[in-house]
Amino acid sequence: MGQSPSGTNYTLRDEIRDHWSKRAATFDDVPGHEIFSDRERRAWHRLLSRHLGPANGRRALDLASGTGVISHLLDDLGFEVTGLDWSEAMLTKAKAKARSRDRRITFRLGDAEQTREDDASFDVVVTRHLVWTLVDPAACFREWLRVLKPGGTLLIVDGDFVRQSPIERLLARLETLVLKGRKPPAAASSAPPDLAEQHRSILSRVHFKDGARAEDIASMLAECGYERIVVDTRLGAIHLAQACRMSWRSGLIRHVQHRYVVVAAKPPA
Ligand SMILES: C[S@@+](CC[C@H](N)C(=O)[O-])C[C@H]1O[C@@H](n2cnc3c(N)ncnc32)[C@H](O)[C@@H]1O
Repeated sequence: MGQSPSGTNYTLRDEIRDHWSKRAATFDDVPGHEIFSDRERRAWHRLLSRHLGPANGRRALDLASGTGVISHLLDDLGFEVTGLDWSEAMLTKAKAKARSRDRRITFRLGDAEQTREDDASFDVVVTRHLVWTLVDPAACFREWLRVLKPGGTLLIVDGDFVRQSPIERLLARLETLVLKGRKPPAAASSAPPDLAEQHRSILSRVHFKDGARAEDIASMLAECGYERIVVDTRLGAIHLAQACRMSWRSGLIRHVQHRYVVVAAKPPA
């Protein structure tokens, strides 16, 4: 593990963890992170139920749980939830929020690449906005297969935050014309201005530095031994609800970005 940002042992993984720790205090202020309406919450419930089926007290692992937004959705649905994150600052926020809402969710410190959970101990593994930032996604996918019960389900929510859609490119061109050379506001990243450069730098060095595409994740999952792999891009109801709390520009961009769910199963025993 690294000791200081300037020390030779300070790795990209340390930098990623420290980046998120710095963002923990304000993470839940951002629409698209925390949920600010029942409309959005219901849309998430529908998406999760569509792919995971009834919870019936089954065990769910929320990987890279951050402040616990997805953990709370899974708890709402009746899963027995463990949230795991490697940032102490995120975990502190997650634990405080769960206490304030009187939720029984277990949050623990850990690395998604080496969870230290038992073999075949979870019915479902869910993770939002982790895969795009992984250094070694294949190692993680194998680890998640290990902790899933036979027949269990992995659900990944993620997006390509690098490649611009034609509408984003058009918007950028129009803004350059209108602003006559002044810099348009950053839209693809929700990082606060003081951390935006670090966010861009991290993004340029991770495995999916050219953007995390659903089809690439799906083929990597197949190589790692998952089956029944499905890509679902029907996130419109969630994005519409989120857009009500965003600038029109951010709401539009969110809608046209390549954002998706990838669902995969561990083969039965
Ligand atoms: C964009 S935030 C997403 C948080 C949460 N999943 C959500 O959607 O609200 C990314 C989170 O991933 C965590 N993270 C990144 N890499 C990780 C790893 N290898 N192991 C555990 N946590 C990780 C960070 O600490 C951060 O809390």
